[in-house]
Amino acid sequence: MGLYSIVYVSTATVPFWDEEVAELLEKSRSKNDGLGLTGMLLFKGGQFMQVLEGPESAVRSLIATISKDPRHEDVRTLWEEPIEQRQFPAWTMGYRGLTDQAIQAIPGYSDFFDATPGASSVWATESRSRWLLDWFRTNRA
Ligand SMILES: Cc1cc2nc3c(=O)[nH]c(=O)nc-3n(C[C@H](O)[C@H](O)[C@H](O)COP(=O)(O)O)c2cc1C
Repeated sequence: MGLYSIVYVSTATVPFWDEEVAELLEKSRSKNDGLGLTGMLLFKGGQFMQVLEGPESAVRSLIATISKDPRHEDVRTLWEEPIEQRQFPAWTMGYRGLTDQAIQAIPGYSDFFDATPGASSVWATESRSRWLLDWFRTNRA
C-alpha cells in the first residue's frame, strides 16, 4: 500500500504544559516508530496542527484513534492525499510549541498572515498551513 498524508487541526480541551507535551510525544514517538509513521506536531494558543504520514492504513487508523482522544476536540482535516515521498522522514513526531513572537519571526510570515484576516487560527487555511509546515520542515531548530 502506498504512502499517505493527513493534516488536521484541533483545539485542546486540557492544558498542555511542558510535562503533558513531553508525555504525549514520548508515547507518540514510540508508537509511530513501530507503525512506520512520521510527521510533525505544532501547538499554539491551545490549537494543534499535526501532519501524519506513512502507510495509508496505519495513518487512517491512527487518525481515528487520535480523533477520539478527549484531550482535544474539533478535529478538522485540512487535507489528505497520497504522497510519493515523506516530508518528515527523520521525525517520528517533530514538535514545535509556538508563540506569537516565534510566528512573527518567520520571514515573510506577517504579510502572509495579514492577507487572510479573520481566520480563527494561525493555520486554519490549507495554503497557510502548507506554507508553515514547509517552513518548519526546512528550518529545523
Ligand atoms: C494532538 C494529539 C496528537 C497525537 N498524536 C499522536 C501520534 O502521533 N501518535 C500516537 O501514537 N498517538 C498520538 N496521540 C495520542 C492518541 O490519541 C492515543 O492516546 C494513543 O495513540 C493511544 O495509544 P494506546 O492505545 O496504544 O495507548 C495524539 C493525541 C493528541 C491529543
